[in-house]
Amino acid sequence: MTATSKLRWGILGAARVNERLLPAIVEAANSELVAIASRRPGAAAQTLAQYAPHTQGVITYDNLDDLLLNPDIQAVYIPLANHEHAEWTLRAIERGKHVLCEKPMALKVEDIDAIQAAAKKHKVKVMEGFMYRFHPQHARVRELLQSSVIGEIRSVRSSYSFMMRPARMYRLQEPIANGGGAMWDIGCYAIHSARMFIEQQPVAVTAMAKHVDSGADIASSGIIEFANGVYAHFDFSFERARRCEYEITGTKGGLKCHIVWQLPGDVPVISWWTEAGQQCEERLPAHNHFRLEIEHFSDCVLNDTPPLLTLADAKENCRVINAALDSVRSGKLARLTNT
Ligand SMILES: NC(=O)c1ccc[n+]([C@@H]2O[C@H](COP(=O)([O-])OP(=O)(O)OC[C@H]3O[C@@H](n4cnc5c(N)ncnc54)[C@H](OP(=O)(O)O)[C@@H]3O)[C@@H](O)[C@H]2O)c1
Repeated sequence: MTATSKLRWGILGAARVNERLLPAIVEAANSELVAIASRRPGAAAQTLAQYAPHTQGVITYDNLDDLLLNPDIQAVYIPLANHEHAEWTLRAIERGKHVLCEKPMALKVEDIDAIQAAAKKHKVKVMEGFMYRFHPQHARVRELLQSSVIGEIRSVRSSYSFMMRPARMYRLQEPIANGGGAMWDIGCYAIHSARMFIEQQPVAVTAMAKHVDSGADIASSGIIEFANGVYAHFDFSFERARRCEYEITGTKGGLKCHIVWQLPGDVPVISWWTEAGQQCEERLPAHNHFRLEIEHFSDCVLNDTPPLLTLADAKENCRVINAALDSVRSGKLARLTNT
């Protein structure tokens, strides 16, 4: 493999999610980990020692700007806190870096507009890090849908929940406007997966939520109405047993993806049924969707091809999330204007 066949990565932030991303960059055949930075002295070195102990020659920085000034770095992965994503994505773009930003890319649609304009100006690629989309199980679902086994899609239901450990409850200390709470953390996945196969404009959202004292949401349920009359039901919670699935009901039957947000060791399972009496279940090979996401993005940069997840998709998800939050606040249906 030549030097130019690997994309040179830097990581901005010593976040917990690096437990998954850092090994993924190291393992990806077309990627090289060059540096990691944190604003807390020693934290970058500690993260490296913890999650990639055998990787040699990685630079650690005790501030984020120095990493962006390193001309050897072509792309950055941004796992900072939610309210910092848009700002640091813009800073990285202005330094000529390609950016893979953790979800949610931004809290406001206007921020993604600014990111889109900057990416165009600086000729870099930017993608929101919905790693689950890179698992082949969704391509298998698409294949089944295209075979018309369940007929035309009439509704989708997505569900994401787990019992949040007390040590992680700090996520609920930030107000929603600052990226705190379950919607920005896991609701964005439930909404993203609910939108995945409908491929129509969302026109209205209604939602309700349970809040904790800080004002952050801990659980929520809602319905998105799409232009073709299809409904997507989503729900998510930090105080309920683990569920991470979507289910699609069509005119002839239904299909379920049982473990959408895969943990190491999870076996991907898809099942479907038809009114004609068919009952099927498929167990698929396990895959590390973080590594697949990194390999995809590196490939897009190295070969100048468009990322699977577009900025238009990031904006649409952000629009739906904000509409759902508006609906929770007002207690009314939130209508989305055409884009
Ligand atoms: N794709 C996934 O599966 C997945 C999973 C979890 C989270 N996420 C996303 O990834 C992002 C990071 O989430 P996370 O849970 O990994 O974040 P986290 O550990 O809370 O860290 C977020 C940022 O806060 C700073 N930080 C970390 N520990 C700190 C501490 N003890 N004191 C002060 N500051 C600290 C770090 O920046 P400095 O190093 O510069 O201080 C870090 O980059 C979020 O946007 C989240 O939505 C994605």
